[in-house]
Amino acid sequence: MTIFQSHESNVQCYARNFPVMFQHAKGSWLYTEQGNAYLDFLAGAGALNYGHNNPVMKQALLDYISQDGLTHGLDMHSTAKAEFIARFKDLILSPRDLDYKLQFTGPTGTNAVEAALKLARKVTGRQNVVAFTNGFHGVSVGALAATGNQHHRQGAAQPLQNVTRLPYEHYADGVDGLTLFEAMLNDHSSGLDKPAAVILEVVQGEGGLNAASDEWLQRLEAMCHQHDILLIVDDIQAGCGRTGTFFSFEPAGIKPDIVTLSKSISGYGLPMAVVLLKPELDKWQPGEHNGTFRGNNHAFVTASKAIEIYWQDDQFEQHIQARSAQLTDALQQLVPQYPAYFSELKGRGLMTGIACRDGEIAGKIARACFEQGLVIETAGPDDEVIKFFCPLTITEHDMAKGIALFEQAVATTAANFIKKAS
Ligand SMILES: Cc1ncc(COP(=O)(O)O)c(C=O)c1O
Repeated sequence: MTIFQSHESNVQCYARNFPVMFQHAKGSWLYTEQGNAYLDFLAGAGALNYGHNNPVMKQALLDYISQDGLTHGLDMHSTAKAEFIARFKDLILSPRDLDYKLQFTGPTGTNAVEAALKLARKVTGRQNVVAFTNGFHGVSVGALAATGNQHHRQGAAQPLQNVTRLPYEHYADGVDGLTLFEAMLNDHSSGLDKPAAVILEVVQGEGGLNAASDEWLQRLEAMCHQHDILLIVDDIQAGCGRTGTFFSFEPAGIKPDIVTLSKSISGYGLPMAVVLLKPELDKWQPGEHNGTFRGNNHAFVTASKAIEIYWQDDQFEQHIQARSAQLTDALQQLVPQYPAYFSELKGRGLMTGIACRDGEIAGKIARACFEQGLVIETAGPDDEVIKFFCPLTITEHDMAKGIALFEQAVATTAANFIKKAS
């Protein structure tokens, strides 16, 4: 472990909460060098929706590598990319009546967000963008300007510009961000520069699992249409099935102008990011938003397989619904048992969490979870929300195990608290 302390930058953070040496991983489980098993309710912060080392994707990748398939390809045509685009069109876009062109960006979420914001500004000729309280969109400077979290924003050490912040749904009692937005758009003296776009997460991941209602999303879409403002849904964390449907915005029936995807789009934890854009918005000049690693062909291979295995029909959606019902039922029973610790359940689908009374309680419980063998993280402005981010492929048995480990951790935390108080 000393090699990390002596040589790795201070910026490293997950390892501080989970200070063991992981060696291998399978499905919903992580294993250390010593063979200790940890149930993974972090799932690569949403990059491992299909679990670790999915055997079908692994075999497809091994076959592709053994045939010397292209690994790196800039944005050149390749069979792997052609197959991915065809699968994505046939099994994801067409059945949902969505018509988007695909822009492959540098393989991180933040790069996809940069591209989406650049495109919106380029197409409309406007600089301002509206983003919401508690939104998280990445940490490169353009994306960071749209991110709310102060801890991340201070890392920029420069002004973060051209973003107007509005309250997300249920941000504060009696505050309706969309009524405010509408009033400001209609008031030529409001000080709001007409935005190129509105960017939002349908369920805010890092911001504490705040889920927007269908009605709120529909209102926002209508407002954007009326005022000729582009609607960007950042589905980097909430997409790829996390909330129960492939895209988080499906239940609301809205059709964003631009969608960003990354994290689980490759299916295997390989770096990959895509911007989906309505065809009429494709005003890019060749190479204008380029990047050396836009053609991660290994990611295309596993991404095609993920779509083929999980999104041919609605079986996987039913599985996610069953597992999220299992989780939610258990947590709904637990929350009222510890009123001093927990306030409410948050989120949607397998993007569910428990809001604790404060970040200290959430931190203590998450640490106790790790001691019991459950890797789980916290989110929210004060890290007060415990985030149950298991792989979507989790079995009923492993979900029950995870819930039991969590309950044990809460009981241990409570017992320690009583011991200290007496
Ligand atoms: C909604 C959302 N957008 C953008 C990002 C940034 O993605 P990346 O960390 O791959 O740059 C994240 C990462 O957590 C995210 O949750």
